[in-house]
Amino acid sequence: MLEVIVTDKREEALDICSFELARIDARPLPVFSAGSHIDVQIAPGLVRQYSLCNPPEESHRYLIGVLLDPTSRGGSKAMHQQIVVGQTLMISEPRNLFPLEHSADRTLLFAGGIGITPILCMAERLAHSGADFELHYSARSSERAAFQARLRASSFASKVHVHFDDAAPAQRLDLARLLRDPQPSTHLYVCGPTGYMEFVLRSAREQGWQEDTLHREYFAAAVNVQASGTSFEVELASSGEVFVIAPDQTIIDVLYDAGIDIPVSCEQGICGTCVTRVLEGEPDHRDSFLTESEKARNNQFTPCCSRAKSARLVLDI
Ligand code: FES
Repeated sequence: MLEVIVTDKREEALDICSFELARIDARPLPVFSAGSHIDVQIAPGLVRQYSLCNPPEESHRYLIGVLLDPTSRGGSKAMHQQIVVGQTLMISEPRNLFPLEHSADRTLLFAGGIGITPILCMAERLAHSGADFELHYSARSSERAAFQARLRASSFASKVHVHFDDAAPAQRLDLARLLRDPQPSTHLYVCGPTGYMEFVLRSAREQGWQEDTLHREYFAAAVNVQASGTSFEVELASSGEVFVIAPDQTIIDVLYDAGIDIPVSCEQGICGTCVTRVLEGEPDHRDSFLTESEKARNNQFTPCCSRAKSARLVLDI
């Protein structure tokens, strides 16, 4: 973990604030690539992931954008209401679960609402390298669309197209036209609310886009990770201990109560921090982190939210 200081906090749009973070001693921050996020420890036990949205060439600061979520479980509310300029925060080094495919001949970027944060960083990177790309930014209204001034002033302004739900029909996102005629060397990246991402990805698949050209990042769990199921057993390979996971419990919670601490961060199946090897049994994957082919192998899972289809899972712990 790194200790950083909040050097700036700005209202970027209705319910969206940006936070600029720098090292206290002003030394360079660890390098990052477009699509990276950091974990921010907002308060003890309250850790959230935020995408970096400044140009990846910068090393003097990290910039994140935070949407005040009306269904906040505490994270975004605390960021908006309690975190102020001059305050110090503990953050992780950047990690990238949403990297750009640099071999692409052309890139289509789709951002919905606060999903603009990693997409903006990708646009900066692609513009910096002279790549061929287009950015489509959708929001409910102009007042809810962050970073518009920065986009308009950017060197890639002509590649940016904004689409507002409450504006004229002519400017609406026309996916049928944009996704027509997919090419294997064109890659698509989408980030935003789950419904928006599913709409973009479904449209692309219907137009024949190959799965390996489609990239997405979830901001909130796509599944109800609180959803319970039937009870099952978890066995630890190292000790042979067996734990019963009741329908309303998570594996992480049961093991934590027994003094077994699996590292977690998002606890929603998004970040991959808790990924654990499965030696026997069939997991009931409920995360958004593992790919479909990784899930199909059934040799790892995310115990923060996933459960079991078999009566027992043997974990490599
Ligand atoms: Fe993030 Fe499990 S803690 S996926």
